[in-house]
Amino acid sequence: MSLKLPPISEKGPRVFAISSGKGGVGKTTLAANLAYAFAEAGKRVLIFDGDLGLANVDVLLGLTPRFHIGDVLARRCRLEEILLEGPAGLLILPASSGLASLTHLSEAQKLQLLEEFEELAAGLDWVFFDTSAGISENVLYFNLASQERLLICTPEPTALTDVYALIKVLYRRYGIKRFHLVVNWVRRANQALEIYRQLLRVIERFLGSISLNFLGGIPFDRHVSEAVKAQRLLLDLYPEAPASKAIRRIVADLSEVNIRPFEGGLQFFGRKIMGVCA
Ligand SMILES: Nc1ncnc2c1ncn2[C@@H]1O[C@H](COP(=O)(O)OP(=O)(O)OP(=O)(O)O)[C@@H](O)[C@H]1O
Ligand SMILES: [Mg+2]
Repeated sequence: MSLKLPPISEKGPRVFAISSGKGGVGKTTLAANLAYAFAEAGKRVLIFDGDLGLANVDVLLGLTPRFHIGDVLARRCRLEEILLEGPAGLLILPASSGLASLTHLSEAQKLQLLEEFEELAAGLDWVFFDTSAGISENVLYFNLASQERLLICTPEPTALTDVYALIKVLYRRYGIKRFHLVVNWVRRANQALEIYRQLLRVIERFLGSISLNFLGGIPFDRHVSEAVKAQRLLLDLYPEAPASKAIRRIVADLSEVNIRPFEGGLQFFGRKIMGVCA
């Protein structure tokens, strides 16, 4: 299927990486529902499924990819042909299966993807990279390729130490100082804010001047797994559920974030980060 792409947007997309230190904390759930909320509001949105694990966006929505990035590199199809269309017209670039690591591509392959992705992204308002957990090269790559980084953790102590480890490597190795935080799976009022403050204290003590913007918390909500079982998006199936309301508040805050422009244009697969991660 070849989708008809929207006209080129003048400002270019806002590009967010959605990452976490620990796995299974809700990245894919949040990425898919945020993307849906913006798409529903008439924005042109793409989720780049950068997770090589199992619980992928296409699976979440019951979609079956016909091609993947490996096919693009083999020139069997163009990047826009591997896109899937989700609810409200949101676009999904399926997981990069067939590709062990984005960082182990040849220069020619990177350039090919860069050109195709730049063309595609020019027509979009928002791009969300749904990454894997941890600090693998792929995760760092997506974070470097983004304008902004949204981190997710839960109140579990290990989730907190792992997200700190991710912030630390992005700051120490690449000088990234600006992050947004969502605390998922909260079980009582104020718990998200407490976790945020706890993380902020550790950052201030050990890393110094990093900006961590609190975007809010999402409660533990059984509707989340029920939507997964139904292969529908939470916001679509249960718009009034507590987790849906929390996600809508995050969407409202995200719309207000003053996004920093890329230095020197879209960096995805860009010349700049090729050097950093190659
Ligand atoms: N607020 C919530 N309340 C209840 N269940 C949730 C909530 N958020 C996520 N879940 C459930 O937790 C599981 C993991 O969520 P999800 O797949 O979004 O995490 P992830 O961070 O993308 O995982 P991975 O690291 O494997 O990519 C899913 O089964 C999801 O339905
Ligand atoms: Mg995931």
